[in-house]
Amino acid sequence: MKRIVVLLLLAAAPALAQPKASTNPFLGNPQAVAEGKATYDRYCTACHGPDATAGERAPAIVLSGAGTALRGERSIDQIVAVVRNGIPGTGMPAWGTRISSDDILKLGAYVNALRGTAMDNPLPGDPAHGEQVFWGKGQCGTCHMINGRGGVTGPDLSNIAAVRKTTAIVNALTKVEHRVFGDGGVHLPAIPPMDYDPVQVVTKDGRTIDGVMRNQDHWSVQFIGMDGTFHSFDRDELTSVTIRPGSIMPTDYDKRLSPDEFRDLLAFLTRQGHKQTADAQ
Ligand code: HEC
Ligand code: HEC
Repeated sequence: MKRIVVLLLLAAAPALAQPKASTNPFLGNPQAVAEGKATYDRYCTACHGPDATAGERAPAIVLSGAGTALRGERSIDQIVAVVRNGIPGTGMPAWGTRISSDDILKLGAYVNALRGTAMDNPLPGDPAHGEQVFWGKGQCGTCHMINGRGGVTGPDLSNIAAVRKTTAIVNALTKVEHRVFGDGGVHLPAIPPMDYDPVQVVTKDGRTIDGVMRNQDHWSVQFIGMDGTFHSFDRDELTSVTIRPGSIMPTDYDKRLSPDEFRDLLAFLTRQGHKQTADAQ
């Protein structure tokens, strides 16, 4: 008897995580979100830009930062109505005659996914296989820690899905500087700057050490060497400190990994988090 109660609670949990009272049956359904994205990419990107964060001909539908909402943001049901009926007298067409009713609802599920952090709408795939790719072929663990295991030359990813949007995670793996550069020179920020600038330090006793910068002031420099060791020097012990722009992290994982490996890695990362401790990072 007890077991049945527990199962019922588990079954109810995903529904509780959804935003209040939408009639959209596709919210939070990874497959529907993926289909909504495909429809979006086909019909909407040209005006609203990639991931609905604004293009040259239409405004943003979502903001790219986690936990941020547009001022006067429409509910998902209102978004669906706008897509169906258009906005008369503006450049926003009505799509109700061109896109099926279900596909418009799936567009709503996709916009909903773009608004939450990754955990609210994890990507489809096999997370267990994705975890193997993380520690294996992807070699992510040489730089990143998850739940106490792994390297320290990159940020800890234990809670990544609770603090970042799916698009930010995908961009981290695929875009130089982890950012999307929109058409026409629009610079769309994806994730806040992270303090892991590549640095090369030369000491007065002739050693050259490469690593990532963690902290510096007038008198001292602290950084993590590529081998994961923490270094702290007074500036007068050093001949030079050279900080390079960019990142030590490769950004072509969509090419280094097979499509299946890449999909499953994202399925793993977008489930990697603990909502309750989201602000502990
Ligand atoms: C030809 C360009 C164009 C295309 C294609 C287009 N839109 Fe729009 N859309 C606009 C413009 C322009 C506006 C702003 C209208 C206004 O001035 O209020 C808009 C507004 C919107 C809004 C309202 C935003 C808000 O809350 O104020 C939503 C939602 C939206 N579009 C969704 C979509 C979706 C989904 C698609 C793809 C099916 C799409 N649009 C395709 C031009 C376009
Ligand atoms: C050579 C070290 C290195 C490797 C290998 C590496 N990363 Fe990174 N990663 C970093 C650093 C450093 C950052 C911090 C931002 C920056 O400087 O690029 C970062 C940033 C990220 C972010 C964004 C974190 C945030 O807070 O938004 C994600 C997600 C990520 N990495 C995932 C991965 C995954 C998954 C792999 C393996 C496929 C991987 N990384 C491989 C060093 C690495």
